[in-house]
Amino acid sequence: MTMTAPAPPAAAPKARKRILTGDRPTGERHVGHYVGTLANRVRLQDEYDTFLLVADHHMMTTRLTGLEEIEHNIRATVLGNLAVGIDPERTTIYLQSQVPEVAEIFLYFAMMVTVPRAQRIPTLKEQMRDLRIAHPSYGLLGYPILQAADILCVKGDLVPVGQDQRSHIELTREIARDFNDRFGPVFPVPEPLIPELGMLPGTDGGTKMGNSIGNVIDLFDDAKTVERKVMGMYTDPNRIRATDPGKVEGNPVFVYHDFFNPDRAEVEDLKERYRTGRVGDVEVKKRLAVALNAFLDPIRERRDALLRDPRIVEEVIATGTARARAEAQRTLREMRAAMKLDYFGA
Ligand code: TRP
Repeated sequence: MTMTAPAPPAAAPKARKRILTGDRPTGERHVGHYVGTLANRVRLQDEYDTFLLVADHHMMTTRLTGLEEIEHNIRATVLGNLAVGIDPERTTIYLQSQVPEVAEIFLYFAMMVTVPRAQRIPTLKEQMRDLRIAHPSYGLLGYPILQAADILCVKGDLVPVGQDQRSHIELTREIARDFNDRFGPVFPVPEPLIPELGMLPGTDGGTKMGNSIGNVIDLFDDAKTVERKVMGMYTDPNRIRATDPGKVEGNPVFVYHDFFNPDRAEVEDLKERYRTGRVGDVEVKKRLAVALNAFLDPIRERRDALLRDPRIVEEVIATGTARARAEAQRTLREMRAAMKLDYFGA
């Protein structure tokens, strides 16, 4: 028997940067979610170690009624993410409320943020205005601090979010720096990753597509429903006849064509004819419905395949939550040690 030299120790794998992002479980995922975040997420999971949380505790910051709907909405949120191509082998999908360490981390962070600082976060006033909340709860004031706990519990380096979340990531950065300065280097200072893409307007022409506004096209709407919603879409209100010159810029039907119709030549031809009064809204919309349905077909198919085994969504959440929880436990131990709260060696 010949002795061979022991193999050199394998090089440590190059640590990939970590992404943490998440959704509040507000209901079905729609094409606005796709344009705003989901498409980006699917791309990023190849390159980064990605964590995706479902923020059910955040749902409680604005109302304590209808909590029995959250479970359905968690399922819908996860199913939507999986159906567009989030791969649970590469992306750790977990449920916020099943990682109780986040609540303890939130508690420590809450001690470090002043009340005026939290009150300056612009989304607080926006939420109060949009949801007609006269007296916000202490929990709503803490919304972005809880979000910081989400991000930092797994030591996220990058946080893909919409433009509306920028101020929350800024607060997270302040908290990370402040903790490191006071107690020792525990956290990376995360960077926001905000997509350049504009927001997808609602079918009513409103600037934002939202479940609570009722101007959405769901990723899981069937073909007939998509067609009906598209035919009812808001277009250029000043155009009465097909022979009137129409406005393409900012017209939601064309904004959707730009996002979802891969046939660029067709889109350019329709725009040209629309501007010069040589095509009717009906034709433009019919072609959009075809393009949207072609885009949604594989998503609906993936959903159907996933639903063939009703336990899949639960298993994905359980596996991801165990992984995320282990990370959060480790982070919390480091925090307690840095703060000298590891009494009796705990
Ligand atoms: N606030 C985010 C939203 O409404 C959801 C969210 C909660 C989140 N925790 C997060 C996003 C952490 C990114 C990172 O869209």
